[in-house]
Amino acid sequence: MPRILRLNNPLHAMITGTGCAVPGRVLTNQDLEKMVDTSDEWIRERTGIAERHIIEEGRYTSDLCAEAAQRALTEAGVSALDVDLISVATVTGDMGFPSTGCIVQEKIGAHNAAAFDIAAACSGFLYGLSWAEAMIAAGKARTVLVIGGETLSRITDYQDRTTAVLFGDGAGAAVLQPSDGRRGILGSYLKSDGRFGRLLYLDGMGTQYPPSHESIDQRAGYIRMEGREVFKQAVTAMGDAAETVLQRAGLTGADVDLLIPHQANMRIIDATARRVKVPLERVFVNVDRYGNTSAASIPIAIDEARRSGRLGPGKLALLVAFGSGLTWASALVRF
Ligand code: ACO
Repeated sequence: MPRILRLNNPLHAMITGTGCAVPGRVLTNQDLEKMVDTSDEWIRERTGIAERHIIEEGRYTSDLCAEAAQRALTEAGVSALDVDLISVATVTGDMGFPSTGCIVQEKIGAHNAAAFDIAAACSGFLYGLSWAEAMIAAGKARTVLVIGGETLSRITDYQDRTTAVLFGDGAGAAVLQPSDGRRGILGSYLKSDGRFGRLLYLDGMGTQYPPSHESIDQRAGYIRMEGREVFKQAVTAMGDAAETVLQRAGLTGADVDLLIPHQANMRIIDATARRVKVPLERVFVNVDRYGNTSAASIPIAIDEARRSGRLGPGKLALLVAFGSGLTWASALVRF
């Protein structure tokens, strides 16, 4: 039985609708075998990934985000015109500016909202969730759209086997509104450490690297990563984040109905689950079908878990993420 929580500390905001969108095109491990020197066996063993979805020509991150947001609004029974705030967590926005948040705002017709982007890589959705809860708690907003969306295929170097196999495209969204007193965000935890920024970065973009013939010749514009080191940091940070948010709420892994970790790698997911002693049958996994979709991975997983009945009313979810920055984050949500 779940314990009674936060008697002296009321719940402020809850998720009233979720939605996700993934492109129809699928890139399998067998497809990748024809593109780089790799094998289905290596990819499955080291990552757990079998396939990932890749955006079609002429479509962008904002298209996936708008689709996911519309589904979340429909489920929440909220008109786009009632949305006060929109955050889009992404590292693959449509353009430098305006923000993808503003582009999504236009696409869904949320003309009364304020919109912007969050740059916290794979942790971005949880950064957005924590910010949205604070804005609702402060009485500054009543309806907030928190979105995570990526088209990582556009910044993946399909000549580099160490990264080409890892990433996919997609988006997920959640509508946050004032809590009914029973459901909501019990707690959240955010952390970053810029000293490790060079372990995982987008090479050759931004004002530090204006486009030039040289940068094109040097194949700039792609994800670069120290895979082994990122792996170690991810295991430690995700475990710390999961433990911290549980401890602060006076809970343990035994209280968690579903652990939803960032879907980067099955071995990182396993290690995180072991650290908080949540058995694998209470861990949500879809990395096999989508690969790592960065900021989109947790909201896609939440939406799939809800639609498949694994996150019904009253269930407690522990959400944990880790990404470039380095950034990491966690949240406890009663559905
Ligand atoms: N196919 C076949 N062989 C490969 C491939 C591939 N796709 N990629 C690398 N190799 C080779 C390497 O060249 C190396 O060969 P060598 O021993 O002859 O030098 C060998 O496999 C082992 O390479 P490692 O990098 O040590 O392999 P590792 O077990 O660490 O797995 C991986 C690599 C999967 C990238 C792992 O380090 C990882 O998952 N890191 C985390 C990365 C991540 O998830 N980043 C995403 C962003 S952060 C986040 O979302 C958590």
